[in-house]
Amino acid sequence: MYGQQVDNSRTYVMPFIEQTKPITPDTRVLEIGCGEGGVLQPFIDRSCYCVGVDLDKVRIDTANDFFEDKIKEGKAEFLCMNIYDDAFLSRFANSFDVIVLKDTIEHVPEQEKFIPYLKKLLKPDGQVFFGFPPWYMPFGGHQQVAINKISMLPYYHILPKPVYKSILKMFGESKNKIEELMEIYDTRISIERFERIVKRSGFKVKQKQHFLLNPIYKYKFGWKPIKQTPIISAIPFVRNFLTTCVYYTIGL
Ligand SMILES: C[S@@+](CC[C@H](N)C(=O)[O-])C[C@H]1O[C@@H](n2cnc3c(N)ncnc32)[C@H](O)[C@@H]1O
Repeated sequence: MYGQQVDNSRTYVMPFIEQTKPITPDTRVLEIGCGEGGVLQPFIDRSCYCVGVDLDKVRIDTANDFFEDKIKEGKAEFLCMNIYDDAFLSRFANSFDVIVLKDTIEHVPEQEKFIPYLKKLLKPDGQVFFGFPPWYMPFGGHQQVAINKISMLPYYHILPKPVYKSILKMFGESKNKIEELMEIYDTRISIERFERIVKRSGFKVKQKQHFLLNPIYKYKFGWKPIKQTPIISAIPFVRNFLTTCVYYTIGL
């Protein structure tokens, strides 16, 4: 898992960000939903000052162990906090050149409030990177995390919530797993809704790339990443069903 985070970040995420924002040793980077911190490793290797924040204490503890030396050098920090905590904002207001949200925005509730909130953490010329699977893609409900055979079935997560929940129950998924999947149902995000929120928040899209096959599938299934065709990418709504991942950088 950690190795996948690092390699995916080094090969795909960082080069994508660098198309619109140079990464230098002076670049201050925040990753929200950093997990074990693997996505930040390539930025730490480039001597950037990095902060990772996540709600999951176990994952943050792992990051703190792993990056112990860099933390002692004052080059990195990993915090178990909610990004909305006042303490986080008062310490880090207008602090970051780059904010990274990789596979995280689809887990954050009230994205209409969250995306404009990011402006408070960014420097005036800062940029935010998002990588996420659009809700309507074959496994947009993250239903592959289910433990029964149903985990292999695409698209059924887009059924009405009670029907989706009943199917999961019928196939014997645990209460906790169903709750986890219902949370993702509630925070689901499509390409159109994401772009609408970005525009309403006063951000501009600096760069975007849609993928037919998500770069992360290289590690999970041995499949090479495939970029979405420009024609499909330009068809609102329909594109969501055939796009397994999108990358965006936005700025003011
Ligand atoms: C799917 S993981 C992504 C981990 C990592 N970015 C990667 O790409 O491998 C999403 C993470 O977001 C974290 N998260 C969700 N909402 C959050 C919030 N409000 N504040 C901090 N972390 C949050 C979760 O705890 C989880 O570890």
